[in-house]
Amino acid sequence: MKDTGLPARKAALAILSGVLQKRRPLDAQLEQLSGLEVRDAGFARALVSQTLRHMGALDAVLRKFMAKPLAPHKAGSATEILLLGTCELLILKVPAHAAVDAANQLATKDAKAVHFKPLINAVLRKVAAQGELVLSGLDRERLSTPDWLWTRWSAQYGAGTARQIARAHQSEAPIDIVLKAEGATHPQSAALFGMVRRLSAEGRIDTMAGFAQGHWWVQDAAASLPATLLGDVRGQRVIDLCAAPGGKTMQLAAMGAQVTAVEIDAARAERIRENLARTRLEAEIVEADARDVEITAPFVLIDAPCTATGTIRRHPDLPWIKGAADVTVSAGAAYEILLSGAAMVEPGGILVFAVCSLEREEGEEQIAAFLSSNPDFARLPVTKDDVFGHQDWITPDGDLRTLPFMLDGGMDGFYAARLHKHL
Ligand SMILES: C[S@@+](CC[C@H](N)C(=O)[O-])C[C@H]1O[C@@H](n2cnc3c(N)ncnc32)[C@H](O)[C@@H]1O
Repeated sequence: MKDTGLPARKAALAILSGVLQKRRPLDAQLEQLSGLEVRDAGFARALVSQTLRHMGALDAVLRKFMAKPLAPHKAGSATEILLLGTCELLILKVPAHAAVDAANQLATKDAKAVHFKPLINAVLRKVAAQGELVLSGLDRERLSTPDWLWTRWSAQYGAGTARQIARAHQSEAPIDIVLKAEGATHPQSAALFGMVRRLSAEGRIDTMAGFAQGHWWVQDAAASLPATLLGDVRGQRVIDLCAAPGGKTMQLAAMGAQVTAVEIDAARAERIRENLARTRLEAEIVEADARDVEITAPFVLIDAPCTATGTIRRHPDLPWIKGAADVTVSAGAAYEILLSGAAMVEPGGILVFAVCSLEREEGEEQIAAFLSSNPDFARLPVTKDDVFGHQDWITPDGDLRTLPFMLDGGMDGFYAARLHKHL
């Protein structure tokens, strides 16, 4: 990658410090890049994302060349400058002089880090000379997975699967799209299953063929499955709880359902409106807490808020800003939404509960607890035909469970259970 100068690196440093020191989500901070030239913004985004994706390994390389870690209260952003510099050298393959000079300039602008400029310079020169060799001898997958996640995944899935998950996180996720209808105009892409395709075209999404006309929307292959589990919803009333930005709302509306989309966040509800307007699809939007809504329908889909650990390929900041305590908090809120959604299902109807999390407490254990105390519901097991022939996506209990290494090129980690309410 070419050297695109200081503004991009300054922005990358501010964002990385926001993630690591203040635990601010990466996505929310990327708006800071809007003032940059397109090329600089692209470089800054790649630099931060790749630094986070490979952070454990980059940190381990740095430790080989430093006696001890730097304390932020003394060193300001020196650690982040070192991580970005190491990423430039070892992952983005920026020429050594450009990467080291940039790190020196960043240090000069930080009142605390400036005192560590000689150290930053010396360490990065060593990384440039010997870092590749050090990196090649490291267990990168393990190092770039924080302990809290490694421990959980090993316990939940076994050591081999935990490693496959961690390996999948080393690569960026492809972009999948869902077609509104058969024969819709779409960009260069390969068919995956049903209406889902995987982009092979590169560039800005909003300038691609068929986007402005609303012929398709971006949605991960795994994220498209929960709505499919509802079955034939043509002409049926469907309640879509926790709906923004509206991927599943659009799917359901495109299938011919009468959708009521419930979303708590007004700004995010606006995204559903924009998406529906672009795709010329219709749904009723209710801005409310799903726990307070009192409506009913024969079909209810809950895409519950969660830690989103199934989307780490797209959100490499997640492992570093979240922790085990977040799993418990998310699971508590989602269970309340599950109870509320269950009350909305008319007798004889279907409930699908989904989360984009790899954590069993947020998925499998929620449904186990729910079924044990709600005898008016029973599991309606997912069949191979429901998921386009992929038996490996179905658990022994009959739920959907995808993992990020499944499907050629990967897919988000999703859990979904389909339940039937007795008449
Ligand atoms: C995983 S996202 C949903 C993605 C969406 N279903 C789609 O397919 O595009 C979860 C959404 O739930 C919303 N949410 C969180 N708590 C909620 C609640 N109590 N009631 C309604 N919506 C909620 C969040 O604002 C967020 O937009």
